[in-house]
Order: sequence, then structure tokens, then C-alpha cells
Amino acid sequence: MTSTATSFIPTVRTLMGPGPSDVDPKILTALSRPTIGHLDPQFIDLMDEIKTLLQYAFQTKNQLTMPVSAPGSAGMEACFANLVEPGDKVIVCQNGVFGGRMKENVIRCGGTAVLVEDEWGKPTDIQKLEQALEENKDTKIVAFVHAETSTGVKNDAEALCKLAKKYNCLTLVDAVTSLGGCELRVDDWQIDAIYSGTQKCLSCVPGLSPVSFSQLAIDAIKARKTPIQSWFLDMELVMGYWGKGAKRAYHHTAPVNSLYALHESLVILKEEGLEAAWQRHQEMHNKLKEGLEALGLEFIVEEKYRLPQLNTVRIPDGVDDAKVRQTLLNDYNLEIGAGLGSLAGKVWRIGLMGYGSNLKNVNYCIDSLKAVLNSNK
Ligand SMILES: Cc1ncc(COP(=O)(O)O)c(C=O)c1O
Repeated sequence: MTSTATSFIPTVRTLMGPGPSDVDPKILTALSRPTIGHLDPQFIDLMDEIKTLLQYAFQTKNQLTMPVSAPGSAGMEACFANLVEPGDKVIVCQNGVFGGRMKENVIRCGGTAVLVEDEWGKPTDIQKLEQALEENKDTKIVAFVHAETSTGVKNDAEALCKLAKKYNCLTLVDAVTSLGGCELRVDDWQIDAIYSGTQKCLSCVPGLSPVSFSQLAIDAIKARKTPIQSWFLDMELVMGYWGKGAKRAYHHTAPVNSLYALHESLVILKEEGLEAAWQRHQEMHNKLKEGLEALGLEFIVEEKYRLPQLNTVRIPDGVDDAKVRQTLLNDYNLEIGAGLGSLAGKVWRIGLMGYGSNLKNVNYCIDSLKAVLNSNK
């Protein structure tokens, strides 16, 4: 049988959607270095360094801090599968797509999900959470999304965790879009379980999910009455590989080259400095905002709740959503994101994440959008 397939050479795009974001060429170079064995002593040293660098990125001393070998959704499952037992009550704050997925996870773990719902584009209302906690004193966990990628809203993680702690709950936080892009302090804010993704503000390749668990979370896992339903995501088993220094044992074959890439991205973040990276995201957002507003585009999120790394603007009346995005992709090699769920067809989501959060991208996006919107008139 003859094959017509040849090597795949993708077009170089500017990625300004909700992720993946532009990958720093230094990270792509790291990815292509020679593969070594996943139990090679050199690789074990690399794993230890990744853990330390992730502790820095998350601002935590948690020992159980490592990347799950799968995308952000697997980090989400790892947190819920380890912490939620059948019969456990979990309050899920939902104000977008990803809060909905948290609810699904609770139900699939046999738990009861109590929803605190807010309108898409609005942050979680602290008073509603307090009321839910008052009415559900047997709640074990409060879960919420820090950076809701579907709307561009930043939930007040510090305040939500503080309130959850007042009611002796564990806190479980989605930081897929927030890690590296805006202020996030796991220890200071008393976050017990957190997961992220590599393809957003870390500017790394997709496919890994950094997670971190506090001692309280580990105690809760150890106190479980039922085994963790997932073998692959059982943190006690995973830590036999990630947590045992030179004595580590085979659990699964780590994605060696992707971990070179993650290491490189964390080195770059450390070199820039976390707070400087947060600041850069804010400054680039301010520039983009100026340009978008000059084009007459309106943000759907009130300024003080806006994520600098994910800008959601209303599509002007009479403008063909799909046509604009297609023209940007085909003629400008520029990707911006469509709306999700109830915002489909109504908004565009423009990412300024990690390496891609720079002035060149800001200007390119504004100029391209301007040209396409004018040609649509
Ligand atoms: C807030 C949030 N949570 C979870 C996910 C899922 O991550 P992944 O697509 O890497 O599985 C995403 C992906 O966009 C996200 O934005």
C-alpha cells in the first residue's frame, strides 16, 4: 500500500485565543532535546527542579506539587477524584463553562454538588456563598474557578477561600488560566487543592497540568473510607514516582520532552519574576483595551473583575462572527476565540497570555481587527 502522507508543517500563527497561547521558541527548542529515560538520574534531577519551580509559580511550600501528565481537565479530575468521596457535599461556584465541569466532576465522584450561581460575565457573589455555607453546614469543599476563561472574569480567590475557611471547608481552585498571568498565592490564600494547565500563561506546549495539594488536603485523602476510583490519578500512587527522590518507582512513562518544555517555561518565568509577569499582563491588557475601545468594541466584564490575560468583547451588531474569525485566521494567521455556551456568537475572547502578552501582538491584533471590521462594512 502506498502512502501519500508527508511530514506535517503547520503555518505559523499568532495565537490570541483562550489557549493554547504562543509558545516561546526557547521552549520549543527545549522540547526537541534528546529524549532520555524517565528513570534516568538526570531526569530525576529535572523532576525535582520542576517541583521546586512549580512551588515558586504557585507561591506554595506544598510538598505535593507536580505536573499531572495530561491536560488541565486531568488536573481537575485529579483534584476531585482524590478529595471527593461518595456522599461528600461540595459547594461549586459557577459563573461560566468551567464551573459547570466542576459540578460534573463532583457528581461523577458520587458527591452532592450545591451550586452558587452567578450570571456569566459577573464574579461569584461572596454573599451568596456565605448563604450557601450557612444552609449547608456539612459542606466538605468549596470549589471555584479563579480565572473563568469562558467569560474573562476573575473571581476573588482570596476572599472566597477566606470565607470557606471560616466554615472549615477545604478549598479547590481552577487556576488553568490564572497561573503566571495574574496574582495567585496558594499558601497565603489557603488554597488546599489547585490545578492549572501549561498552554496558557506559562506559554508551554499543551498537555500537562501542574497541581498542588496542601497538608490538609493530603490528610483528607489519607482519611478516605473508599479507594480513589481512578488508578492513574491516585495521588498516593503518583507520588511513588514524583515524590520519592532517587527511590522512585515506575508509575507511568512521564512525557519526558514535554517536561523539558515545562522546565524551560518555569525557568523563564523565574527569570522574569512572578510579580513582573503579572504586571506585564496588566500593562498589555491596558494597551489592548485602549485599542479595542477605539474600535468601538465593549468589554462584557466590569473593569475591576477583568482578567488581563483574557479579554472578552461584545461582537458589534450586524457583524458576522465566524466570517471575521475566519478572515483573521486565513488572511492574517491570527487566532482569536469564539464565545462559549450562552456567549456563543455574542463575544470574542482575545488572549494575551504568557509569551504572547507583548506589544507586538497587541498592535497586530488591533490593526488586523480594524482592517477586517472595516472591510465588513
Ligand atoms: C478555566 C479552565 N479550566 C479547565 C480547562 C481545561 O483544560 P484543558 O483544555 O487543558 O484540559 C480550561 C481550558 O481551556 C480552562 O480554561
